[in-house]
Amino acid sequence: MTPTTMTSAPALSPTTQVAIVDALVEQGWYVGRAAIDLGLCESLNSELMHRANYNGLDEAGIGRGQQHSLRKDIRGDAIHWLDRESAAQRQYLDAMAELQQALNQALFLGLFEYEAHFAHYPPGAFYQRHLDSFRGRANRVISTVGYLTRDWPNDGGGEMVIYHPDEPHQEITRVVPEAGTFACFLSETIPHEVLPTRYPRTSIAGWFRRNASLGGVLDPAR
Ligand code: OGA
Ligand code: MN
Repeated sequence: MTPTTMTSAPALSPTTQVAIVDALVEQGWYVGRAAIDLGLCESLNSELMHRANYNGLDEAGIGRGQQHSLRKDIRGDAIHWLDRESAAQRQYLDAMAELQQALNQALFLGLFEYEAHFAHYPPGAFYQRHLDSFRGRANRVISTVGYLTRDWPNDGGGEMVIYHPDEPHQEITRVVPEAGTFACFLSETIPHEVLPTRYPRTSIAGWFRRNASLGGVLDPAR
């Protein structure tokens, strides 16, 4: 049997990394189509759909630690935290580690950790407008979303809406969750929302973190 070979193409090209850094500096957010290697998206999507079909996901909640609760009226996705258990996960996380280096070199952000989870939104699911981090709790600094569903239909819904940082009702852009699209934004300032989806919607949501020490207690990872 011939051994399976992994593609060695970087999941995010150097040109894309530069575009991300520039867009974050200029406007606080980035959206690029065909930014992530499509073969990698396919592998990650298969892994996520397998979990979705065989009870391998956890219902997502809101809040951390003691404050964590399930609120289907706020978010309806089911998740699995990436743990490097597959070659596809490792390739994605390695690409994020490279992006982290590029961000630190260009912006002196002092990012030192990345956490990410698969997310599966069944038909009807959504995630109401929110921020990923709160000012003063400098834990999540930059949010990333990689989309994994191929041939997203025109009537599929499920767009991510990015809102103006100072006018939280003013839409800036809508992101179609098509495989290969990568979005990235400042976690503390960019409000965003996932509109109700009409088809199963798959993605990886992730965050570059800078750990914050709060009253001597290190902010927990999750
Ligand atoms: C999140 C989130 C956006 C998306 O998980 O916090 O905002 O498009 N996800 O999946
Ligand atoms: Mn979010």
